[in-house]
Amino acid sequence: MTHHTDITKPLALDYTTNVFTHGQIIHADCFEWLSRLPENTLHAIVTDPPYGVREYDDHELEKRGKGKGGIWRLPPTFDGSIRAPLPRFTALDAKDRKRLSLFFTEWSRLAVRALKPGGHAVIATNAFMAALLYEALVQGGLEFRGQLIRQVRTLRGGDRPKNAEDEFPDVSSLPRGCYEPWGLFRKPLPPKMTVAECLRQFHTGGLRRLPSGNPFEDIIPSERTQRLERDIANHPSLKPQSFMRQIVYAALPLGKGVIADPFMGSGSTIAAAEAIGLHAIGAERCLDYFSMASDAIPELAMLGKKKTDRPRQSVRATTPCATELFIERNRLDVGTVNPV
Ligand SMILES: C[S@@+](CC[C@H](N)C(=O)[O-])C[C@H]1O[C@@H](n2cnc3c(N)ncnc32)[C@H](O)[C@@H]1O
Repeated sequence: MTHHTDITKPLALDYTTNVFTHGQIIHADCFEWLSRLPENTLHAIVTDPPYGVREYDDHELEKRGKGKGGIWRLPPTFDGSIRAPLPRFTALDAKDRKRLSLFFTEWSRLAVRALKPGGHAVIATNAFMAALLYEALVQGGLEFRGQLIRQVRTLRGGDRPKNAEDEFPDVSSLPRGCYEPWGLFRKPLPPKMTVAECLRQFHTGGLRRLPSGNPFEDIIPSERTQRLERDIANHPSLKPQSFMRQIVYAALPLGKGVIADPFMGSGSTIAAAEAIGLHAIGAERCLDYFSMASDAIPELAMLGKKKTDRPRQSVRATTPCATELFIERNRLDVGTVNPV
C-alpha cells in the first residue's frame, strides 16, 4: 500500500511542514511554491483566496484588530450578537482592482502549470468580485466551467442608501447577500482528449458523483461557520466543514490524487479532505495562520466522528467516504453562527 507521505511529501519541497494522517501543510508563499512544483502534479485545487488581495496585508490585519478603518468593516448588528469584521470590497479603487486582476491572472498561470490536464480548481469569491476574478483566471489559462452557489446569508448588501436612510426607506443599494459563489474552473484537456481518456490517464476531467449516485449539484444549501469550528480555528475566513467536505469530495472524480489549497488559512480544506480520507496539501504564507492550521486541522477533521454524533437514520453507504460525508451533512447543522 502506498503511504500518503509518498504522495504528498515530494510536493512539500524544502518548506517547513506538518504531516497529518492523509495530508500535509507547508509554510510557503503559494506563488513561489506553485512555480517550483513539477508540471502536471496536482489533481485538483480547492481554495479561498484573499480576493481583496490587501485584506491579509499586515497593516490591514492590524486595523482589523483595532476594529477601525481599513478594508475590514463590522457588519450591522441586528440580533444583539457581536459580529466579526468582513472585508469591505467596495473600498477597492481602480488601482486595487487592476492589482487584483494581475494577481489572479498570474496565479491562474501558475495553477494551470501545476495542475494535471482536466484538474479542477474550485475557488471561493463573492458576488461583488466574481466577474473580475473569473475574467482574470480565464486570462491566465483556466477554463471556466460554471459556478457553485453556497447558499448562506452573508450579511453583505441590503442596506438603505448611506446617509439617506430616512429619505429612501424603501430602497436597498444592493440586494442582501444570500449566497457565496465559488468559481468552477478546469485545466483544459489536451486537444481531442475525451473526459473518459482524461480520467483513465490522469484521474481528472470530471467531478465525483454523490454517494447516492446522483450528480454533484451546483447549488449547495449551507450555513455560516459554526461557533464550534470557530472556537477551534479563529481565522476571519474559516469555511464550514459541512460545506468543504462536499467540495473536496466532488473535486477528485475517482477519489484518487492530491487536492491542493494554496491559500490554506487555518486549513478548513485540508481538514475536510483529512476527514474523508483524501490526500491534500495546503500552503499558507502567514506563520500565525500556519501554526493555527497545524493545531486546527486534526480537530476540525474529527468533528462529527464521535460515536454519539452518528445520525439516526440509516443510509446506503457505498464507500467509507460516503458514510463520512453523510454523517457530516447530518451532523453539522446546529450551533450559533457568525462569519461567512
Ligand atoms: C481567505 S483566507 C483562507 C481561509 C480558509 N478558507 C480557512 O478556512 O481558514 C486566505 C489566506 O491566504 C493567505 N495568503 C495570502 N497570500 C498568500 C500567498 N501568496 N501564499 C500563501 N498564502 C497566502 C492569507 O494569509 C490567508 O490566511
